[in-house]
Amino acid sequence: MTANPYPLGLRLHGRRVVVVGGGAVATRRVPALLDAGADVLLVAPELTPALRARVDAGRLHWVPRRFEPDDLDGAWLVQVAVDDPMAAASVSAVAAERRIFCVRADDRTAATAWTPAVTRHGPVTVAVLGGGDPRRAMTVRDAVRELLAVRLGSDGTASTRGRPGPPAGATGGTDAIGATGATGAGGATGATGAGGAASAGGAGGAGGAGSGRRAGRVALVGAGPGDPELITVKGWRLLTEADVVVADRLVPGLLLDELRPDVELVDASKIPYGPSRAQEEINQILVDRALAGAAVVRLKGGDPYVFGRGGEELLACAAAGVPVTVVPGVTSSIAAPAAAGIPVTHRGVAHEFTVVSGHLAPDSPASLVRWDALAGLHGTLVILMGLKNLAAITATLIANGRPPQTPAAVVQEATTGTQRILRSTLGEVAADLLAADLRPPAVVVVGDVVGALDG
Ligand SMILES: C[S@@+](CC[C@H](N)C(=O)[O-])C[C@H]1O[C@@H](n2cnc3c(N)ncnc32)[C@H](O)[C@@H]1O
Repeated sequence: MTANPYPLGLRLHGRRVVVVGGGAVATRRVPALLDAGADVLLVAPELTPALRARVDAGRLHWVPRRFEPDDLDGAWLVQVAVDDPMAAASVSAVAAERRIFCVRADDRTAATAWTPAVTRHGPVTVAVLGGGDPRRAMTVRDAVRELLAVRLGSDGTASTRGRPGPPAGATGGTDAIGATGATGAGGATGATGAGGAASAGGAGGAGGAGSGRRAGRVALVGAGPGDPELITVKGWRLLTEADVVVADRLVPGLLLDELRPDVELVDASKIPYGPSRAQEEINQILVDRALAGAAVVRLKGGDPYVFGRGGEELLACAAAGVPVTVVPGVTSSIAAPAAAGIPVTHRGVAHEFTVVSGHLAPDSPASLVRWDALAGLHGTLVILMGLKNLAAITATLIANGRPPQTPAAVVQEATTGTQRILRSTLGEVAADLLAADLRPPAVVVVGDVVGALDG
């Protein structure tokens, strides 16, 4: 008989945790370790783009090679996130010798510690262990999470008001059905629908005719700007129902940590000015998985339709006859200023706000932005993806009439534990940004609203 595990809350702040492996499992596990303030050492010959971005941002240390016993020097905990059972066993043998607890993604029975299914609600963390069955743990966790959403306020204190859940059976206002519609929802129950889905699925044919295989679908879900609690109720529900999650780099890592272990996580990270996976490839993954019967969630930072290429993904799915649901998200263009205490509009100060991409320089022939016209506006200008070109952008705005003393701010990694805020003026913000070493992702706000709430 296996003894019950002994639950603990590890206080990892500043303590070394070694993660062995740089693939999908590590991508899911590392965010919670960083959130706990752990000093993470990642040992892996290669990393996913999402992990690479965290290394580049200086959030963790990376040793680009296979595991060696000395890697555990000073470690309090080790997480083994490799598929190879021999490699995993050798790490846990070294850990056991040194009395370091070891979590194993490949074999829970060989591990000395288990990661629970977790739901976080303000300062309250509920961790559920399912007696070695991760699915059971997830089911209980989801039930607890729903209960907490109703019973607790966002600060984790008991609420006297119930918070309404998603309306029963509601589909929201933005469901779109693919052009042919042939693989529609009837596939879940009806024989005709199942046949349609099987033929659309092509060569795989795993379900077989008349097997009642579920029709696949895609949900384009906005994950919000960074704080995992800023996903919508509907977005979260679809995430808990997903078989496949295709995630961008900017999606809150803690949401990935809460996925069921059997969910396929596809890392579609696009790193600014770095390697990127072609959009066509992402479209194809969405279509292929859905046609094979999977519930696919395309999880995107902020809102899917704000510089998120959600429209292209919807069109690709529609062309393949895949039903798509679009779940809007909290966009960083409004949330990042808000997180810095800047309202994008304010009575008597700004009656409009304009959101613009700064990924192309103002003099680029490919730019679709009328910077000269924007300079003539009095309201708020919110610039996304604009750090690299900020000097050219601010110079163009000033040359076309926007006063250099206009207040400006930069908000980096808004709504996360590593948020940084810089306040400046239009004339100086580009130089101040360099001096402060701010990095993407960041939003630049220009306008009198920047100081509107200052006391
Ligand atoms: C490709 S765009 C995607 C925008 C996203 N769809 C949205 O609605 O927020 C990426 C840019 O969004 C901004 N961004 C996203 N998340 C951010 C955050 N947490 N803090 C600051 N800026 C953010 C940055 O300007 C970043 O370069």
